[in-house]
This record gives sequence, structure tokens and C-alpha cells, in this order.
Amino acid sequence: MQKFEKINRVSGTIEYKGDKSISHRAVIFACMADGISKISNLSGSEDVNSTAGIFKSLGCEINNEGKDLIIKGRGYKGFKATSSYLDAGNSGTTARLLSGLLMNQNFSSTMIGDESLSQRPMKRIIEPLRQMGGNFFPTDENTLPMRIEPSNNIAPINYVLPIPSAQIKSAIVLSALHLDEPSTIIENLPSRNHTELMLNLRVEQKDSQNIITASKKNYPNPFEIFVPGDISSAAFFIVLTLLSKDSELTINNVSLNPQRACYVELLKQMGADIEIQPVKSSLGEPIGNLIVRSSKLKNITIPASAIPLIIDELPVLTICGLMAEGDFEFLHAAELRVKESDRISAMVKNLRALGVEVEEFPDGLHIVKSENQLNESPVFDSFGDHRIAMSFGILSLILESGGSINNFECVNISNPDFVKQIQGIVK
Ligand code: S3P
Repeated sequence: MQKFEKINRVSGTIEYKGDKSISHRAVIFACMADGISKISNLSGSEDVNSTAGIFKSLGCEINNEGKDLIIKGRGYKGFKATSSYLDAGNSGTTARLLSGLLMNQNFSSTMIGDESLSQRPMKRIIEPLRQMGGNFFPTDENTLPMRIEPSNNIAPINYVLPIPSAQIKSAIVLSALHLDEPSTIIENLPSRNHTELMLNLRVEQKDSQNIITASKKNYPNPFEIFVPGDISSAAFFIVLTLLSKDSELTINNVSLNPQRACYVELLKQMGADIEIQPVKSSLGEPIGNLIVRSSKLKNITIPASAIPLIIDELPVLTICGLMAEGDFEFLHAAELRVKESDRISAMVKNLRALGVEVEEFPDGLHIVKSENQLNESPVFDSFGDHRIAMSFGILSLILESGGSINNFECVNISNPDFVKQIQGIVK
């Protein structure tokens, strides 16, 4: 159990290790390329370690050189067969993206995951990848463990994404990179676009849709990348700073990709004092500094179109909404129920443990503000989910009586430095 006392204020400068989504893709594309790639500022997360671990079993050389990661990729269809299970751990991105890659190899493999990942839906990628000719043998519930057999009949696809998901989109792209004929993926609502940017894919905007085209022409070559700081890890510290008195935090070299920094814009609409200073870019990814100051916040209506772009930040935005003026609500987020935990249920249970009046919907929640006294020294549950653990860690740092979180070590899934970083900026 991790206990946090109320802090006085936040002050200082911080820089985060590389963004988790971009780091996964950097490792995957470097391992696919024929030659040596260099990745600076890779994420230190357990999830990205899971991706790297799988590629080591597939014969890739992955070594640290000072602060950089040097990867010798195996080239087109060059991975080595292995009889070991490929363990994606807790990482949905690893399991889903690599499925698109493994179906195109000349050997069979079996993907496994931890207890949480083994319950998460894989049908969403199995369906389009089977349409392309992939041979998948998951459990009867379409979950991991999943055997992937080689196939001689892989063909391109034109696919309209039924849900806005960067993981589904990227799984299809990874398969499409093995075919001469182009595949197209149509998204009605944008989701994070790191795969498109890093592979320099053609993205056409028609009406309100994005049409993404990928083929073997886009197969990755060796590259060098500086991975921008993780804007999703920064979200917790931004919320803490905004909600603390007399506080100012500078965050350097963080991702400013508009599809990831969308929550910063929403916070600004709520009245947040956040200064944005663009600095540079790396492989199409904008990078910059943020200066965040204590603010008086007022809740707003969160538009449905923003939900896919703030999906990982909704738990900590809920903490922000709890402390801001007015009722807080989000809807259209049923996807939150199939993340590392059922995040809607986890948030509702923890908020009720604090004595907050909260209504639960199939796709969201509504916090009703009241004058009722909150419970003292609450004990929250992480539900084994890193973003739930960190959200209630932030809340505990703000509550008069502090608070505790059970099973807090799951924060290592995305940010093993969370506690150390908090200690460095709180006064
Ligand atoms: C991710 C995409 C999102 C996000 C996840 C990482 C990615 O999932 O929730 O943490 O790296 O592509 P979906 O694409 O399923 O929404």
C-alpha cells in the first residue's frame, strides 16, 4: 500500500522519459528494419520492456549504449522462429500491433499476456486481420493466449474502423506493410497517429474521415529518433499543479502531438494556466515545453469527438473534474471498460469510497457536487491498473487527510519513476 500526505505546493522543472506509444512503435519499426537504428529517450515502462523482450526472442539484437538503445533489426520477414511463448505482459499495444506483424512471418508463434491482458478483447484485431488472410487461434472468448500460424493467402484490405482505435489501425498497417498492393483504413473519428507519422503514411482527409494508405513501400528503414517525453505521464503532474496553491511546474521536451495533447486544450478551456512553448520535432512528432500554474477550474462539456484523443487521461481528468467548480461528466467512453481495468467501474468505486456522489453509465459517469463531508484518510484500490493508481495518488496528494492506494506498484506499467518524481517537485 502506498500512502500520500497532502502537499503544500508544487514547484520545479521536470522531464519525462519517452512516450509509451511512440516508444513501442520505435522498437517495433527498428526491429523490422534491415540494419541499425538508434532510439534516444526510450520509455522506461514495463509495457515497452514487454515489446523489446518479444523481439529479443525473435532474434533481434537490442542493447543499451549510454542513454540510447541500439537495435539491429532483422529486415523484411527476417524474424527467427522461437518455441517460447511471446509474452506481452500487461500491454494491449504489444499484443495487438504484433499480431499484424506475426501473421506475415513464415513460422507459428503464440502470444500470451498477464491476467488483465488475457481478459481484454482481441476480436477487434482478429476480425480485420482474418479478412486479410491471417490465421489466428485465440481462446473461445477471442482472448489470449493466441496462436498465430503462417498464411500463404495474405491480401490487402479496405477497412472502416468500427471503433476509433490506434491499436486496431496500427495492427492492420503492420500487416499491410508486407503487401505490394495498398490497403486503406478509414477512421470516422481520429485516434493517435504515431504509426502514420513515423512511417510517413499517406493520410487523406475526406469529409470528416481520415483515409490512411499503407503498403510495402512504407516498410521501415533504419532510423534515429529522440522519443518525446510522455504527455500521458505528464497529465498527472499537470493536474496536481493546477489544483495546488502557489504552484508552478515546467515540463521540458514533452510530446505536443495535437492528438495527444488534446487534454491540455480542454484543461485550458476549463481555465487552466498552461503556457505552451514548441521547441523541435523528431520523425514528425512535435516536441516542446509546458509551464503549468495553479488555476481556478470550471467544468465544461467534454465533446464526444475528443474522447478517443483523451481516452488515457480520462481517469485523471475525472480527479480534476471532482475538484473543479460544477458537476463533472463524461459520456461516449465505453472503451474505458476494456482497458487495463474497467476504468469506469474502478473510478466509481473509488469515488464512492471517498463519499462522493457519483452516477455510473454504460459509457461514462457523472459526479454530483454536494456539501457532504468527504471521508477522512480514504483507502483506494488501483484495480491493478497504473492509470487508476496514479489518478488516486494525485487525489491523495490534494486531500486534507491524504490517502492510500492498494497495489500501487502497477504504476511501473507506464511510469516506474512516479513516486520519485513527485518527491522531486512537491514542497
Ligand atoms: C494506444 C492506443 C490506445 C491507448 C493505449 C495506447 C497505442 O488504445 O488507450 O494506451 O499506443 O496505440 P486504443 O487504440 O485501443 O484506443
